[in-house]
Amino acid sequence: MKRKAIYPGSFDPPTNGHLDLIERGSKIFDELVVGVLSNPEKDPLFSVADRRKMLEAMTADFDNVTVDTFDGLTVDYALRVGASAVLRGIRAISDYEYELQMALMNRKLQPGLETVFMMPAEKYSYLSSRLVREIAQLGGAIDCLVPPLVAQKLREKLDVAHKFANAEAREHEASGQVAPERLTQERKTKPRRKKS
Ligand code: PNS
Repeated sequence: MKRKAIYPGSFDPPTNGHLDLIERGSKIFDELVVGVLSNPEKDPLFSVADRRKMLEAMTADFDNVTVDTFDGLTVDYALRVGASAVLRGIRAISDYEYELQMALMNRKLQPGLETVFMMPAEKYSYLSSRLVREIAQLGGAIDCLVPPLVAQKLREKLDVAHKFANAEAREHEASGQVAPERLTQERKTKPRRKKS
Protein backbone atom coordinates (compact mmCIF):
# COMPACT_ATOMS: atom_id res chain seq x y z
CA MET A 1 0.00 0.00 0.00
CA LYS A 2 1.21 3.49 -0.86
CA ARG A 3 2.08 5.77 2.05
CA LYS A 4 0.38 9.08 1.39
CA ALA A 5 0.65 12.11 3.65
CA ILE A 6 -0.60 15.66 3.70
CA TYR A 7 1.55 18.56 4.80
CA PRO A 8 -1.02 21.19 5.85
CA GLY A 9 -0.21 24.78 6.69
CA SER A 10 -0.76 28.46 6.03
CA PHE A 11 2.47 28.97 4.02
CA ASP A 12 2.06 32.77 4.07
CA PRO A 13 4.62 32.88 2.53
CA PRO A 14 6.32 29.52 2.01
CA THR A 15 9.90 29.59 3.33
CA ASN A 16 13.14 27.64 2.93
CA GLY A 17 12.16 25.82 6.13
CA HIS A 18 8.93 24.57 4.51
CA LEU A 19 10.88 23.48 1.44
CA ASP A 20 13.37 21.61 3.62
CA LEU A 21 10.52 19.75 5.31
CA ILE A 22 8.83 18.97 1.99
CA GLU A 23 12.08 17.45 0.73
CA ARG A 24 12.45 15.32 3.87
CA GLY A 25 8.78 14.27 3.72
CA SER A 26 9.04 13.35 0.05
CA LYS A 27 11.74 10.83 0.99
CA ILE A 28 9.70 8.94 3.58
CA PHE A 29 6.27 9.04 1.94
CA ASP A 30 5.32 7.69 -1.49
CA GLU A 31 3.07 10.68 -2.05
CA LEU A 32 3.03 14.02 -0.29
CA VAL A 33 0.26 16.58 -0.75
CA VAL A 34 1.09 20.09 0.43
CA GLY A 35 -2.28 21.47 1.58
CA VAL A 36 -2.59 25.26 1.73
CA LEU A 37 -5.26 26.21 4.23
CA SER A 38 -7.76 28.61 2.79
CA ASN A 39 -8.76 30.51 5.90
CA PRO A 40 -10.33 33.90 5.21
CA GLU A 41 -10.31 34.77 8.94
CA LYS A 42 -6.52 34.95 9.05
CA ASP A 43 -6.21 37.99 6.74
CA PRO A 44 -3.20 36.60 4.88
CA LEU A 45 -0.60 38.63 3.00
CA PHE A 46 -0.82 36.34 -0.06
CA SER A 47 -3.99 34.90 -1.57
CA VAL A 48 -4.41 31.14 -1.48
CA ALA A 49 -3.92 31.07 -5.26
CA ASP A 50 -0.60 32.94 -4.95
CA ARG A 51 0.63 30.65 -2.17
CA ARG A 52 -0.32 27.61 -4.19
CA LYS A 53 1.52 28.92 -7.27
CA MET A 54 4.66 29.67 -5.24
CA LEU A 55 4.62 26.19 -3.68
CA GLU A 56 4.02 24.55 -7.05
CA ALA A 57 7.06 26.30 -8.49
CA MET A 58 9.17 25.46 -5.43
CA THR A 59 8.26 21.75 -5.56
CA ALA A 60 8.31 21.28 -9.34
CA ASP A 61 11.37 19.01 -9.09
CA PHE A 62 9.76 16.55 -6.67
CA ASP A 63 7.89 13.86 -8.61
CA ASN A 64 5.84 12.65 -5.65
CA VAL A 65 4.81 16.07 -4.30
CA THR A 66 1.63 17.88 -5.30
CA VAL A 67 0.14 21.14 -4.03
CA ASP A 68 -3.52 21.64 -3.21
CA THR A 69 -5.76 23.97 -1.21
CA PHE A 70 -8.32 23.06 1.40
CA ASP A 71 -10.72 24.45 3.93
CA GLY A 72 -12.46 22.88 6.88
CA LEU A 73 -10.86 20.33 9.15
CA THR A 74 -7.45 18.92 8.34
CA VAL A 75 -8.60 15.42 9.29
CA ASP A 76 -11.51 15.61 6.82
CA TYR A 77 -9.19 16.82 4.12
CA ALA A 78 -6.76 13.97 4.82
CA LEU A 79 -9.63 11.50 4.51
CA ARG A 80 -10.82 13.09 1.25
CA VAL A 81 -7.43 12.70 -0.42
CA GLY A 82 -6.80 9.24 1.03
CA ALA A 83 -3.83 10.20 3.22
CA SER A 84 -2.95 8.14 6.27
CA ALA A 85 -0.60 10.69 7.85
CA VAL A 86 -0.23 14.38 8.56
CA LEU A 87 3.28 15.76 8.29
CA ARG A 88 4.22 18.67 10.53
CA GLY A 89 7.52 20.35 11.29
CA ILE A 90 8.87 21.01 14.76
CA ARG A 91 11.60 23.62 14.94
CA ALA A 92 12.03 24.09 18.66
CA ILE A 93 10.51 23.10 21.99
CA SER A 94 8.24 26.14 21.69
CA ASP A 95 6.47 24.49 18.72
CA TYR A 96 5.96 21.27 20.61
CA GLU A 97 3.07 22.18 22.89
CA TYR A 98 0.86 23.54 20.10
CA GLU A 99 1.78 20.72 17.74
CA LEU A 100 1.15 18.06 20.37
CA GLN A 101 -2.24 19.57 21.14
CA MET A 102 -3.17 19.61 17.44
CA ALA A 103 -1.88 16.08 16.85
CA LEU A 104 -3.81 14.67 19.80
CA MET A 105 -6.98 16.53 18.83
CA ASN A 106 -6.65 15.28 15.25
CA ARG A 107 -6.21 11.76 16.63
CA LYS A 108 -9.36 12.19 18.71
CA LEU A 109 -11.25 13.34 15.62
CA GLN A 110 -9.79 10.69 13.33
CA PRO A 111 -8.07 7.85 15.23
CA GLY A 112 -6.71 6.19 12.08
CA LEU A 113 -4.73 9.26 11.04
CA GLU A 114 -1.16 9.53 12.30
CA THR A 115 0.80 12.75 12.74
CA VAL A 116 4.47 12.53 11.80
CA PHE A 117 6.80 15.22 13.10
CA MET A 118 10.02 16.02 11.30
CA MET A 119 12.70 18.55 12.15
CA PRO A 120 13.95 20.93 9.48
CA ALA A 121 17.69 21.61 9.20
CA GLU A 122 19.04 23.51 12.23
CA LYS A 123 19.74 26.56 10.07
CA TYR A 124 15.97 26.95 9.65
CA SER A 125 15.07 26.46 13.29
CA TYR A 126 14.48 30.19 13.85
CA LEU A 127 12.66 30.76 10.57
CA SER A 128 8.93 31.43 10.38
CA SER A 129 6.55 32.95 7.83
CA ARG A 130 5.53 35.59 10.38
CA LEU A 131 9.13 36.76 10.80
CA VAL A 132 9.71 36.74 7.05
CA ARG A 133 6.64 38.95 6.55
CA GLU A 134 7.77 41.32 9.29
CA ILE A 135 11.36 41.56 8.01
CA ALA A 136 10.17 42.13 4.44
CA GLN A 137 7.68 44.79 5.54
CA LEU A 138 10.43 46.62 7.43
CA GLY A 139 12.86 46.46 4.52
CA GLY A 140 15.22 43.75 5.86
CA ALA A 141 17.02 41.14 3.75
CA ILE A 142 14.92 38.05 3.10
CA ASP A 143 16.89 36.42 0.29
CA CYS A 144 18.45 33.74 2.47
CA LEU A 145 15.13 32.93 4.15
CA VAL A 146 12.86 32.18 1.21
CA PRO A 147 13.34 30.83 -2.34
CA PRO A 148 14.14 33.56 -4.94
CA LEU A 149 10.66 33.51 -6.47
CA VAL A 150 9.05 34.07 -3.05
CA ALA A 151 11.47 36.93 -2.33
CA GLN A 152 10.48 38.46 -5.66
CA LYS A 153 6.74 38.07 -4.92
CA LEU A 154 7.24 39.64 -1.48
CA ARG A 155 9.03 42.61 -2.99
CA GLU A 156 6.29 43.04 -5.62
CA LYS A 157 3.55 42.77 -3.02
CA LEU A 158 5.13 45.27 -0.66
CA ASP A 159 5.99 47.63 -3.50
CA VAL A 160 2.35 47.64 -4.61
CA ALA A 161 1.18 48.18 -1.01
CA HIS A 162 3.66 51.06 -0.65
CA LYS A 163 2.59 52.69 -3.93
CA PHE A 164 -1.07 52.25 -3.00
CA ALA A 165 -0.57 53.94 0.39
CA ASN A 166 1.30 56.84 -1.25
CA ALA A 167 -1.37 57.28 -3.93
CA GLU A 168 -4.08 57.24 -1.29
CA ALA A 169 -2.25 59.87 0.76
CA ARG A 170 -1.83 62.09 -2.33
CA GLU A 171 -5.52 61.69 -3.20
CA HIS A 172 -6.57 62.73 0.28
CA GLU A 173 -4.19 65.67 0.27
CA ALA A 174 -5.53 66.85 -3.10
CA SER A 175 -9.08 66.75 -1.79
CA GLY A 176 -8.06 68.68 1.32
CA GLN A 177 -8.67 65.67 3.56
CA VAL A 178 -6.17 64.04 5.83
CA ALA A 179 -5.09 60.52 4.78
CA PRO A 180 -6.61 57.86 7.07
CA GLU A 181 -3.27 56.73 8.52
CA ARG A 182 -2.26 60.34 9.21
CA LEU A 183 -5.67 60.98 10.72
CA THR A 184 -5.11 58.16 13.17
CA GLN A 185 -1.71 59.61 13.98
CA GLU A 186 -3.16 63.10 14.45
CA ARG A 187 -5.90 61.76 16.67
CA LYS A 188 -3.26 60.15 18.79
CA THR A 189 -1.11 63.26 19.08
CA LYS A 190 -3.65 66.15 19.09
CA PRO A 191 -4.92 67.19 22.53
CA ARG A 192 -8.61 66.40 22.92
CA ARG A 193 -11.08 69.16 23.60
CA LYS A 194 -12.88 68.82 26.88
CA LYS A 195 -16.55 67.98 26.61
CA SER A 196 -18.64 70.92 27.70
O1 PNS B 1 1.11 26.80 9.13
P1 PNS B 1 0.19 26.79 10.31
O2 PNS B 1 -0.63 28.04 10.36
O3 PNS B 1 0.91 26.50 11.60
O4 PNS B 1 -0.84 25.55 10.07
C1 PNS B 1 -1.87 25.32 10.98
C2 PNS B 1 -2.87 24.30 10.39
C3 PNS B 1 -3.34 24.73 9.02
C4 PNS B 1 -2.23 22.95 10.27
C5 PNS B 1 -4.06 24.23 11.40
O5 PNS B 1 -4.52 25.51 11.68
C6 PNS B 1 -5.21 23.40 10.86
O6 PNS B 1 -5.14 22.19 10.80
N1 PNS B 1 -6.29 24.09 10.43
C7 PNS B 1 -7.45 23.47 9.80
C8 PNS B 1 -8.65 23.44 10.75
C9 PNS B 1 -8.53 22.30 11.74
O7 PNS B 1 -8.45 21.16 11.38
N2 PNS B 1 -8.52 22.68 13.03
C10 PNS B 1 -8.40 21.75 14.13
C11 PNS B 1 -6.94 21.44 14.43
S1 PNS B 1 -6.77 20.33 15.75
